Amino acid sequence: MIYIINGPNLNLLGTREPEIYGSEQFELFFEKLQQQFPETKLEYLQSNIEGELVNFIQEAGKKATAIVINAAAYSHTSVAIADAIKAVALPAIEVHISNIYSRESFRHHSYLSAVCIAVISGCGLDGYRLAIDHLSKTQQ
Ligand code: DQA
Repeated sequence: MIYIINGPNLNLLGTREPEIYGSEQFELFFEKLQQQFPETKLEYLQSNIEGELVNFIQEAGKKATAIVINAAAYSHTSVAIADAIKAVALPAIEVHISNIYSRESFRHHSYLSAVCIAVISGCGLDGYRLAIDHLSKTQQ
């Protein structure tokens, strides 16, 4: 099982700054994503609360084989989320819908990148598919 964990404000996908994040709701995208990977069980979790994201990662440590995480704004601030990824020692891929390097400089650094096996930024929601594709080929 692969956990997909989304952070703050990503529950608003579809209506939030569509010129940056697109106009598709994540729940609908997730249904299609699961259909594209019938042999890999996906679990989708979202929270606006940092500690809940830490709890999701710890839960993934017990139930999942890999993590795809878009910690959103917490990517740029959270040592706790980076520590949790390191603690569970699962392969994790960091996804950003937008290209964080072409945006404000405070988005250029992510605490998560050093503890993830890969970073995908700027491919829109397709970044999640690319991450699952890679993990489903390389992890059991
Ligand atoms: C984001 C980029 C972050 O800088 C931002 O705070 C988000 C979304 C992205 O997916 O492009 O909320 O992680």
